[in-house]
Amino acid sequence: MKWLLTPLLLTLLLASSGAQESSSRRRRGPSALSSNVPAIYNFGDSNSDTGGLSAVFPPTVPPNGETFFHNPSGRACDGRLIIDFIAEHLGMPYLSAYLNSIKPNFEHGANFATRGATIRQQNEGWFQNYVSPFSLDIQLTQFDEFKAQTSFLYKQEQTGRDGLPKPEEFSKALYMFDIGQNDLDAGFRKMSHPQILADIPNIITLFANAVQHLYGSGARAFWIHNTGPIGCLPMKTVDTEPNLKPALLDEHGCIKNQNDIAKEFNKQLKDRVIKLRAELPQAALTYVDIYTAKYKLISNARHLGFEDASNICCGFRGNGTKIWCGYSGNVNGREMHAGSCPNPSKVISWDSVHYTESANHWIASLIMNGSLSDPPISIAQAFQ
Ligand SMILES: *[C@@H]1O[C@H](CO)[C@@H](O)[C@H](O)[C@H]1NC(C)=O
Ligand SMILES: *[C@@H]1O[C@H](CO)[C@@H](O)[C@H](O)[C@H]1NC(C)=O
Repeated sequence: MKWLLTPLLLTLLLASSGAQESSSRRRRGPSALSSNVPAIYNFGDSNSDTGGLSAVFPPTVPPNGETFFHNPSGRACDGRLIIDFIAEHLGMPYLSAYLNSIKPNFEHGANFATRGATIRQQNEGWFQNYVSPFSLDIQLTQFDEFKAQTSFLYKQEQTGRDGLPKPEEFSKALYMFDIGQNDLDAGFRKMSHPQILADIPNIITLFANAVQHLYGSGARAFWIHNTGPIGCLPMKTVDTEPNLKPALLDEHGCIKNQNDIAKEFNKQLKDRVIKLRAELPQAALTYVDIYTAKYKLISNARHLGFEDASNICCGFRGNGTKIWCGYSGNVNGREMHAGSCPNPSKVISWDSVHYTESANHWIASLIMNGSLSDPPISIAQAFQ
């Protein structure tokens, strides 16, 4: 039987394909480049978790997501993360979390990051100290499985490939990392500062093993964020450390010795990335100085149109109490709900640990053109 395309049917078909086209364009975001970017595979913690931990543990609650997704979206933020702005810039859809089982789209990669993740496994759980069981080594195991199953499905003469990348695109993808902050945080909880310092080389070795593992399976382009100024997080500086002495703070209210440890971690990370370039001759490794971007923002907050960097938008900290963003608690005998501030775009810290969308946007704009990268190449150029 033949199809006869009547003018009416033809019009309907054209109209509906046009609608699909424009909705997929909308999903790709406003500043889409016509790049031939095949995929991003991301490994990390809450700084780049687009819904992984929320898929398997208690999900993020409102008002997370209120600014952009109008849904908590599994991100610890009012809106988009740095990785979302990167995806928009490259003209890609936002990365789906590998663990998300509700309509994920992996055609342009997958996100293995989970909130609370560390490079090294910690013998702790989510319900004790908000440590994710999906540490970097587990995230790599998940990537290996994702790749193996994708290749397997492509070999089958079956449908069921929708939403999956093509196997030959794994070697053309960009492999991104933003992890390490929670290793330092666990250190501050469990060790003395000299012990943490002595331990940093071991953490860096585990990180390098991860890069080598991916290289061994064909990955070539790497984009590696260093760790941010952990001592500036209001979680650490505002009303939580009863013995926090002003002398421990720098001129921007950040805990000096914690930032010094983050800087030492970053120095060793950068040195190791330089060594990896020699060990992995076909790899292109871009080291991105997120620390400097975040510290620039915090130290110039007022000048850049933000409120004081110690303010938080969502959650309550004070009167000897802390209530997490979106939860309720008791303050001075009164039940209180910790919601968000009227204008999140003016605040740097969303919930005392995570940055607001507007802070993430500022940071992303600064790092994407390569001005804080070694070598100084943009995100688009980082795909070989
Ligand atoms: C915190 O304590 C101060 C002084 O006791 C009080 O004025 C203020 O209302 C308290 N804040 C809340 C949210 O209860
Ligand atoms: C990169 O972007 C930032 C922020 O927009 C800008 O200040 C900087 O001059 C740019 N650097 C380069 C090398 O283009």
